[in-house]
Amino acid sequence: MVAEIRQNYSPELGLAFSSRTQLSSLGPCWHPYRRVNCIVAVLQTKKSPKRGCTPDRMSVQEKVLIVEDEENALTGLAELVSGWGYRTDTARDGLEGLERAQAWQPGIVLTDLRMPRMDGLELLERLSELKQQDQAVIVITAQGSIAEAVEAMKIGAYDFIQKPIDPNRLRTILANASRQRETQQELEVTRRKLRDTGVLGPLVGSSKKMQELFGLIERVATSNVSVLITGESGTGKELVARTLHDLSPRKPKPFVAVNCAAIPETLIESEIFGHERGAFTGALERRAGCFELAEEGTLLLDEIGEMPVGTQAKLLRVLEDRKLRRLGSKIESPVDVRVLAATNKDPETAVADGHLRGDLYYRLNVFNIHMPPLREHKEDIPAIVDSMLRDMNEKHSRQVAGIGDEMLGRLIAHDWPGNVRELRNTIERAVILCGEGYLDSRHLPPGFGSKPMKLSFEPDANAIQVEVGTTVDEAERRLIIKTLESTNNNKTKAAEILGISLKTLHNKLKEYGSSNSSTDAIEE
Ligand SMILES: Nc1ncnc2c1ncn2[C@@H]1O[C@H](COP(=O)(O)OP(=O)(O)OP(=O)(O)O)[C@@H](O)[C@H]1O
Ligand SMILES: [Mg+2]
Repeated sequence: MVAEIRQNYSPELGLAFSSRTQLSSLGPCWHPYRRVNCIVAVLQTKKSPKRGCTPDRMSVQEKVLIVEDEENALTGLAELVSGWGYRTDTARDGLEGLERAQAWQPGIVLTDLRMPRMDGLELLERLSELKQQDQAVIVITAQGSIAEAVEAMKIGAYDFIQKPIDPNRLRTILANASRQRETQQELEVTRRKLRDTGVLGPLVGSSKKMQELFGLIERVATSNVSVLITGESGTGKELVARTLHDLSPRKPKPFVAVNCAAIPETLIESEIFGHERGAFTGALERRAGCFELAEEGTLLLDEIGEMPVGTQAKLLRVLEDRKLRRLGSKIESPVDVRVLAATNKDPETAVADGHLRGDLYYRLNVFNIHMPPLREHKEDIPAIVDSMLRDMNEKHSRQVAGIGDEMLGRLIAHDWPGNVRELRNTIERAVILCGEGYLDSRHLPPGFGSKPMKLSFEPDANAIQVEVGTTVDEAERRLIIKTLESTNNNKTKAAEILGISLKTLHNKLKEYGSSNSSTDAIEE
């Protein structure tokens, strides 16, 4: 582990003393694709360069316009930013900033919020009206004014930094913003190509609903904001999270998904924040948490409503301060991770019921992407089936040429309570059975469409339904999850009802976490 300590202190700017730790020994996460442990999946396509990359590696020096009414702070910031190799220019209020931005065309605008004549938010609005879309605006906010920061992000700010400014954090934000601009053009070309074919990354859909969502995903992807992804089980929430990551400048860095519902309460904080050796009984070695594994990348907190409320409070602090302290450690280190969250429950009800902290909800829900159930965009079924056929042929070495009209009609008529996941399972089963030629109704599960296929995770049903063709492992998994739901996630009680030990229950939950899917047995 390489630790680099920097001391940057400037009285005029009120720059904070800060230490920066470069993690060069994250071990398992630096592999192209691997499950780091039972709970976390990491996707990384390229070995990451060192953190805090500076313009030294850019072919053209990025232009940064600094807008700040306080003279000392302005000079200090300009010196600091030029020292990192950027070209800088300055303005003393929003109006002057707007004029300079139009004349000089900077790639990045770093602006204070409270200024005479025109404040930072108005400057941000005016800049976005000018449609200088690839210009990144970073706002400087007063300490604790998270509401202002959220407001700025909603209007289109790239990121925000709180006073007193931590130089290392500022340097990272600037480097990320430059990187974003570098990839912007490349992404634009890809997007246009994809949009024309009703596909966005792995997401398929040309219905009006899906096209609107694709538009929103594209717009939100390149910024740093948190996004709360909601929707019924199987509607594609995790797929959206991966797409947001893949369309962002963070793409070469890890994508880490954690299923909060699959982690025993006693382990969740260590999983997310990491721990030092000896932090608690059984902590034999220091361990990096998900935040560290996702450094410079994206972290998806799946089933956020299942996270214990105490852990939610700690998470909120990390999101606000962007600093992390491992369990058992006295040192805080900066984190640069984009956090996405997903839930299949209604978040407002979860807040009202006390399962989700209101302040965390507010912080995560800067943008909401709501995935519609499949029954509300049935016109996408033919295209989704087509894309799944190709995947399944490849996965199972089959040569299915297509799908017969009658079977397609039955698929369209079905209600799909399990959404796209249920459709995928149906197609996978059919492709395996059919092998070659065209899929027809004989390849559908027995009883398909004759009655609504109840899935085990309906909120009030106290029974699980196991269709013929379900594996014993899957049936066991559904029973365990259903029992946990009925005990409000009380694992001791659930273990008693199931007649198994608490340890066995934890092991089973860990296994399900390792499949990185909460409800799908045959998916990879
Ligand atoms: N629009 C889509 N196009 C193609 N495949 C999709 C689409 N939406 C979902 N899928 C597929 O459906 C399956 C379920 O998706 P995903 O795991 O993202 O759902 P989810 O909403 O996260 O479910 P859960 O709430 O149960 O975790 C995956 O196999 C995914 O690839
Ligand atoms: Mg999911």
